[in-house]
Amino acid sequence: MRNEETGYILEKLHIRHTQYDFDCGMEEYNEYIRERAFDEIDIKNTQVYVFLTKNRDTLIGYFTLSNKSIRAEIRDTIYDQPLCLLGRMAIQKHLQGKGWGTKFIHKAIDICYQISDMAGCKGLLVETYFLDLIESNFYQNRGFQQIDEHKIHGRTRYRLLYPL
Ligand SMILES: CC(C)(COP(=O)(O)OP(=O)(O)OC[C@H]1O[C@@H](n2cnc3c(N)ncnc32)[C@H](O)[C@@H]1OP(=O)(O)O)[C@@H](O)C(=O)NCCC(=O)NCCS
Repeated sequence: MRNEETGYILEKLHIRHTQYDFDCGMEEYNEYIRERAFDEIDIKNTQVYVFLTKNRDTLIGYFTLSNKSIRAEIRDTIYDQPLCLLGRMAIQKHLQGKGWGTKFIHKAIDICYQISDMAGCKGLLVETYFLDLIESNFYQNRGFQQIDEHKIHGRTRYRLLYPL
C-alpha cells in the first residue's frame, strides 16, 4: 500500500522488516516489533502495520490493531460495544514530534472505517498507561474522548474512544 500523497509506504509487518533498526526510546516497544509481534500475528490476536519511507531506507514506526468489545450502557441496557483497539504505537526516536504519530492515528481511523463498513465497529479505542500523553491531550486533540480510568495492578489505565 503506497501513499504518494503523504510520502510513506504502509505494509503489514513481515519478517523482512526485521532488517531495519528500530528504536523508539522504549525498549518494550522495540522488543515487541523485533520479536513478540510475529507470535501475536500468528495467533491472530493483532495486526501490525509498519510505515516505511518512500525509498524504503527507514522504518518510521508501527501501530497495532485488534478487535475488542467493551461493556457500556445504552438505553438502560448493558451491551458489548464492538470496537477496534489501537494497541501499540511507536515511532523512531529521531522522527518523533514531526507529525508521524498524528498520521498513524489518521490511518488507523481509516482502517477502522473500512472494518466498520464490513462488520460492526463503533469506534477506535486506545488504552494507555502514559499519563503524560493524557495530560498533553495528545489523543484528545486528535478526536478521542476519555471514557474512563481504572487501577490495574497498581497502575492507572486510561481509555479513550474515537467514535466513528
Ligand atoms: C507517542 C508517540 C507515538 C507520538 O508520536 P509523534 O510522531 O511524536 O507525534 P506527533 O509528532 O504527531 O505529535 C506530537 C505531539 O505529541 C506529544 N507527545 C509526544 N510524546 C509525548 C509524551 N511522551 N508525553 C506527552 N506528549 C507527547 C507532543 O507534545 C506533541 O504535542 P502537540 O501536537 O500538542 O504539539 C511517539 O512519541 C512515540 O513513539 N513514543 C514512544 C512510544 C510510546 O510512548 N507510545 C505510546 C502509545 S500509547
